[in-house]
Amino acid sequence: MMGRDEGTTRGIDRRHFLRLLGATGGTAAVFGAMDAWGMIAASAAEAPPDLEGSADGRRVIILGAGLAGMTAAYELAKLGYETPIIEARDFAGGRCQTARRGFVQTEVTGRTQRALFDEGQHFNHGPWRIPYHHRSTLHYTREFDVPLEIMVNDNPNAWAYREEEDGNPFSGERVRIRELRADIGGYTAELLAKAVDQSRLDDELTEEDRERLIDYLVSFGQLDRSALEYRGTGGRGYEEDPGAGLNPGVPSDPHAFRDVLSHGAINSFRAIDSHTQKNTMFQPVGGMDQLARGFERAVGHMIDYGQEVVEIRQNDDGVRIVVEDRGTGETREVEGDYCLCTIPLSVLNQIPSDLSPEFSQAMNQVTYASTGKIGLQFGRRFWELDDHIYGGHTITNLQGIGNITYPSYGWQEQKGVLQGYYNFGSDAIEVSAMTSAERTRFALEAGSKIHGEAYEREFETAFSVAWHLIPYSLGGWASWSSDARQNAYPILNEPDGRILLAGEHLSYMTGWMSGAIESAWIQMEKIHQHAQATATRVQEAA
Ligand code: ALA
Repeated sequence: MMGRDEGTTRGIDRRHFLRLLGATGGTAAVFGAMDAWGMIAASAAEAPPDLEGSADGRRVIILGAGLAGMTAAYELAKLGYETPIIEARDFAGGRCQTARRGFVQTEVTGRTQRALFDEGQHFNHGPWRIPYHHRSTLHYTREFDVPLEIMVNDNPNAWAYREEEDGNPFSGERVRIRELRADIGGYTAELLAKAVDQSRLDDELTEEDRERLIDYLVSFGQLDRSALEYRGTGGRGYEEDPGAGLNPGVPSDPHAFRDVLSHGAINSFRAIDSHTQKNTMFQPVGGMDQLARGFERAVGHMIDYGQEVVEIRQNDDGVRIVVEDRGTGETREVEGDYCLCTIPLSVLNQIPSDLSPEFSQAMNQVTYASTGKIGLQFGRRFWELDDHIYGGHTITNLQGIGNITYPSYGWQEQKGVLQGYYNFGSDAIEVSAMTSAERTRFALEAGSKIHGEAYEREFETAFSVAWHLIPYSLGGWASWSSDARQNAYPILNEPDGRILLAGEHLSYMTGWMSGAIESAWIQMEKIHQHAQATATRVQEAA
């Protein structure tokens, strides 16, 4: 990152220029100029910004004890800032939650659920997987000694299930993902290898390139080398597995190319992982909320729980937050030099504030994802015992269900909590309109189509979430249209007077904890820079 004092502009150094500007143009001018110079906009994806200087007695009121709020409090407190955190919920972590026995959730509809999972079982109904390149999240799991385990995000031994799919002979029948993946890869490789071999791509390839490509396709598609034919492969599974002694196993025959082509599940296969969805990911041992608990150990003493923000006010010198105690209903005012507001925009845009009309208008351009999940506890891990599925997802086209995900914890224990649906958009809205008992029934009926009667027989208890109905969240994550990204997003990343926003919504990693953390890093640096610049101004004026 560029050094703070490097570079000059027409003979004066940058810091000196900022001081002059601070003395003449006030807050907005200093912030504007800093951004224009790109001095504080650089993302520090791996570690918090390395800030120097002291807080000079400043107080930053942080709204929300989610990951963004706690990140900022933790880092700013190191510089000596006073960072009271106002939190509406009775616990820290924001959306970084885990449902375990006793966890209670009340939706805006007034519907309340209490998780009745057995001790030792849990369900990550919010964030649930961390890619290896989310280094900011991994920075804090390391910092707070939160042990990680692998979250199996892809398992070819899980099932592909399609219902009512035109021309698909497997409709209503479960098929191992490994079979479809091997067969579609093999046949495609065969076609291409033959085309290359028969000189149909001569214009594109040299003789040498052709040979290399054929070698690659033989290996990629497990083709017979001389015939360049796909005839199946051990990777798609055996009719009878090889064993000891005189048992070489019975190889399986591939499905017909046409049948595989008609299976819609093949369109979810990727030769290349997407940027975030890796085959193996991380999860904290014991539940995602262990990360929130790690932060809480460090900043919990700063958090005032059960306090709802009812007004956000500011003037040139500071901020004034009106909060209502959810227990007593009493209101009081909290004052500070700055406000770092991490409240999701879906909630913030309903709170009376002194945010500028331009800022408020920008906030209204963002929508929030409707999304829901259900955790189903089963008394027997039939997916492991009977189907040999250890983690990963069964992929379905069942409306309102999406994927069924097997737990990546407690392997081979007796019980486990499986994710029975993960839905989005209108599907999520429809399912969330059901009572919790109806949601459970819906999930069980769907899962039984794939897992048979064990799904009903072994079921013990469920816990569902519909994030768009959860108070203080009102959505899973921010969804930016490209228009809003272009027009509203830059405005919301800027300070509005003495109020700054932070959270996953102010990132290109919406719906990821790293988005929240890195956004906090960027915004707290702006606050610190401003505090430093204005402290200097005050000193010079004195
Ligand atoms: N990050 C969220 C997920 O992994 C959206 O499902």
